[in-house]
Amino acid sequence: MERTLSLIKPDGVSRNLVGEVIRFFEKAGLRVVALKMLRLTKEEAAEFYSVHRDKPFFDSLTDYMSSGPIVALVLEGENAISRCREIMGATNPAEAAEGTIRRAFGLDKEKNTVHGSDSPESAAREIAFFFSERELLAGKR
Ligand code: RTP
Ligand code: MG
Repeated sequence: MERTLSLIKPDGVSRNLVGEVIRFFEKAGLRVVALKMLRLTKEEAAEFYSVHRDKPFFDSLTDYMSSGPIVALVLEGENAISRCREIMGATNPAEAAEGTIRRAFGLDKEKNTVHGSDSPESAAREIAFFFSERELLAGKR
């Protein structure tokens, strides 16, 4: 069993796609074990995406990620990290495969509706960024 962190980004929440996005994960067999809605400050978005701090899109990305509410979720399942990213599709929705979340809902390379951790190390860091031990234990069954 593996856990990963996913975010429904501001474009997904503002277009009323929270349930639709979660449905993609659930129908693929991933289980929601923690979930919350929040709004990041610009500083928090910069901390979350600090690996991208030297990229040309960093300022725009952190403005966008702090522009409205997001939903953070922890997904659990076999190979959850890679499976979550498969279900999301390529970063650029125009290049995302048929049947993926970004193909269905992504607006452009930035406003691409979802985030998913890209390695076990980032999953651990990103889950801890959003959720306390107590919140993670709540999803145990
Ligand atoms: P994410 O981290 O959000 O799951 O997305 P990803 O791995 O597919 O893509 P990554 O390269 O990590 O980029 C993080 C997010 O930055 C925005 N982005 N904008 N304008 C651009 O060229 C550009 N490139 C990336 C996207 O919101 C991307 O998901
Ligand atoms: Mg990434």
